[in-house]
Amino acid sequence: PTVTYHHDGGTADVLDVEPGTSLMRAAVRNGVRGIVGECGGQAMCATCHVYVRDPYLGALPDISEDEEEMLDCTTAPRDADRSRLGCQVVVGPDLDEIEVDVPASQV
Ligand code: FES
Repeated sequence: PTVTYHHDGGTADVLDVEPGTSLMRAAVRNGVRGIVGECGGQAMCATCHVYVRDPYLGALPDISEDEEEMLDCTTAPRDADRSRLGCQVVVGPDLDEIEVDVPASQV
């Protein structure tokens, strides 16, 4: 699967990611700017906040209760439709491609 992380200013990181990998894990492993992943993927820190681009919103898993709570604690404002925790979105057969916008800051 391919994940594209768009940054402020128009630059982007495009990664080829192993199936079963979360957007947060792939970003941290590859040094993508703006994704921190402080809690290690437990939906407990919100430093992996991303805004999913429109065409991919329909392919995402439902938001769990834990994710829902943490999405109210993001540093960058939550977008009712597009905000997700990067650690809770995993690429694979059901999500072969995704593009997200990375907030300017997570802290
Ligand atoms: Fe902490 Fe996603 S890594 S909430």
